[in-house]
Amino acid sequence: NKTKLLIRGGTVVNHDRSFEADVLCENGIITEVREGIEAPDAEIVDATGNLVMPGGIDTHTHMQLPFMGTVAVDDFYYGTRAAVAGGTTMIIDFVLGPNGEPPLQSYTKWRQWADEKVCCDYSLHVGITWWSDIVAEDMEILTKSKGINSFKMFMAYKGVYQLDDHELLQAFKRCKELGALAQVHAENGDIIAEQSKKMIELGITGPEGHEMCRPEEVEGEATNRAIVLANQVNCPLYVVHVMSKSAADAIVSARRRGCVVFGEPIAAGLGCDGTNYWNKDWRHAAGFVMGPPIRPDSSTPDYLMNLLACGDLQTTGTDNCTFCAEQKALGANDFRKIPNGVNGVEDRMSVIWEKGVHSGKMDPCRYVAVTSTNAAKIFNFYPRKGIIAVGSDADIVVWDPNAKRTISSKTHYQAVDFNIFEGMECHGVTVVTISRGKVVYDHGQMKVVKGSGRYIPRQCFADAAYMPILQRDKVCQPQKVEREPYTGPVVSIP
Ligand code: URP
Ligand code: ZN
Ligand code: ZN
Ligand code: ZN
Repeated sequence: NKTKLLIRGGTVVNHDRSFEADVLCENGIITEVREGIEAPDAEIVDATGNLVMPGGIDTHTHMQLPFMGTVAVDDFYYGTRAAVAGGTTMIIDFVLGPNGEPPLQSYTKWRQWADEKVCCDYSLHVGITWWSDIVAEDMEILTKSKGINSFKMFMAYKGVYQLDDHELLQAFKRCKELGALAQVHAENGDIIAEQSKKMIELGITGPEGHEMCRPEEVEGEATNRAIVLANQVNCPLYVVHVMSKSAADAIVSARRRGCVVFGEPIAAGLGCDGTNYWNKDWRHAAGFVMGPPIRPDSSTPDYLMNLLACGDLQTTGTDNCTFCAEQKALGANDFRKIPNGVNGVEDRMSVIWEKGVHSGKMDPCRYVAVTSTNAAKIFNFYPRKGIIAVGSDADIVVWDPNAKRTISSKTHYQAVDFNIFEGMECHGVTVVTISRGKVVYDHGQMKVVKGSGRYIPRQCFADAAYMPILQRDKVCQPQKVEREPYTGPVVSIP
């Protein structure tokens, strides 16, 4: 009945520095970080020669999502089990109820689905899939008593989830009032609806049509529009799944102007390119269908990785939302019906290590920042997670930076029958994963317990957390000019 775990002999890597230290965990919490810890009654994890990092935080998943006529196959059990095998110890999933369902009701459903299945800790964002007074009221309950501090608004999926500009403004205003972070799916849904109809009329019904009817300016336009709208009401903004140079550029230039806006590239966009939509094998091509699409331009992944490395983009998720062949086949004759979504929750840490650190673009500290720490800070649960420090949750990955593995659907833990990273050789391999002080994955052996993960509630932000916003509030204060009233002639209306 050991409640003590000692990780011995590794190099601790946090977002700000790395150093040699042992890490002692007691009852799920880190209680000591220093060299030469003695704990005779503790279970020992030997980390000699390896890195000891805060467990990955995947900011963007859709486990068992009911979507486009089917349900994503990686549920909260298979999804989180795969996550820990890949060194991720927390996911933030999206509550995404159908248009018309009150968000509080959707949230309750998600909690029930997740609580009985999760193998690691999790938190939730809430999707605002329609707009009404009921939604605005539920947002207050969710922020005040359900631990929600982020809401995702959709600018695409016309007729299903899409909000128009007026509704977006209302939603951003509401987020600002409540101290919540507004998130956007930034794509112009009207253009997509129009162009995809045209594509079908031209007889292009395959997955390449999915990409061609939503070129990157469709994402760039919406990203810029979301930034402008949010900025008008001084609302901080978080752009999910940044897939293109145009969208990234919009975020970077807004940050230069002083806007509080964050950008989240995902593993798919950092590790793959969209030429796969032209693959001769339909199932292969359909496997990459997601919104926004992965860009066919082969230089986009590096571009996004460079922005992560320099701090212009901040977090990484996966948008993990997986469908097997027979589900993707719902769109066999019409790309508009292919369920949108790709894998990533298991492979994100390896893909970013390979393309980010092994390639020389970022150092291990920056890697920890973009895979873990920044997410904990931006979504307001730092330092509970995202750092190896006394008092933090013992969510830890022991990482071998030199070992190699080849990604394949034949060996992955995910329930889905396809892997967009198939054949990719990655340096950086999970050796041991620890979730709240317990070993859940050990040298290829799965030790998870279904339902053992906990919900992590998050508090809203005090305005003080956003100093630039406060300054903007002052700048934008309407100024009335005192002047003598006009006394000259006025034209008379006949
Ligand atoms: O294709 C995607 N991204 N599927 C999941 C839903 C979403 O928009 O994130
Ligand atoms: Zn989305
Ligand atoms: Zn998503
Ligand atoms: Zn390599």
